[in-house]
Amino acid sequence: MQQLWPVPVAEPDLVDLYRTPPGPWLRMNFVSSLDGAGHVDGRSAPLSGPADKRVFGVLRMLCDALVVGAGTVREEGYHALRLDADRRAWRRANGLREYPTLVIVSGRLDLDPAQDALAAAPVRPIVLTRAGNDPGRLAGVAEIITVGEDEVDLAAGLAALRGRGLDHVLSEGGPRLFGSLTAAGLVDELCLTVSPLLAGPGAGRITAGHPAGTPQHLTLRHILLDDELLFLRHAR
Ligand SMILES: NC(=O)c1ccc[n+]([C@@H]2O[C@H](COP(=O)([O-])OP(=O)(O)OC[C@H]3O[C@@H](n4cnc5c(N)ncnc54)[C@H](OP(=O)(O)O)[C@@H]3O)[C@@H](O)[C@H]2O)c1
Repeated sequence: MQQLWPVPVAEPDLVDLYRTPPGPWLRMNFVSSLDGAGHVDGRSAPLSGPADKRVFGVLRMLCDALVVGAGTVREEGYHALRLDADRRAWRRANGLREYPTLVIVSGRLDLDPAQDALAAAPVRPIVLTRAGNDPGRLAGVAEIITVGEDEVDLAAGLAALRGRGLDHVLSEGGPRLFGSLTAAGLVDELCLTVSPLLAGPGAGRITAGHPAGTPQHLTLRHILLDDELLFLRHAR
């Protein structure tokens, strides 16, 4: 089904547009400039806008787990995953846990246990890492799951999340994590907000890290329009 609509104002309509099938599902959510940049001066906020923040909030409300790469947590200064009372009530009424679980992918475990995302999390976050790291003080604020020897084995990591009842995974990136997930054939959906900016050369794309693999086809589910932004939803 393809739809071209203004971004609905009513949250239930947005929820309907972003429903996912039951069972395991990995949705990526990114914002990009018109010329393909994934950030401006290291931050994605200049690419975003009010409608993007609404969609962003709804996607967080719908997921069991929010998976992000350590680079995004460090550079964006990620905060604890909080939802307002209405969205927590919606989750309870729809059989979800009150809050999604924050999951950070880090090969080196170079994370600050005092960062708000970890220290103030309403539910104990999970860190997916590879063998050979000493969790140190991180073990006090997060569950550390080791998957893989030389690299974080993302397929095994997602299976470990499913084993904890975390089926519907939302990932807000960043680019290196997206590249690894795409290369491993693990991405079911991409929600892409296109911002009417020319960022110019310099900033990287929303995907990075791996050499190009076989292109994968996703089907257009909808296009939503806002005064400024364009919202594309593509899925397997
Ligand atoms: N436009 C958007 O929607 C959007 C969204 C998110 C981020 N961003 C931007 O992206 C930039 C950060 O880029 P990034 O590529 O560094 O982000 P990233 O993918 O979030 O982080 C990369 C880091 O995550 C860990 N990691 C990711 N994939 C891994 C894998 N397969 N195996 C092991 N570790 C893995 C590593 O952590 P360790 O170094 O700890 O080993 C790696 O250094 C920021 O400027 C941010 O603003 C933009």
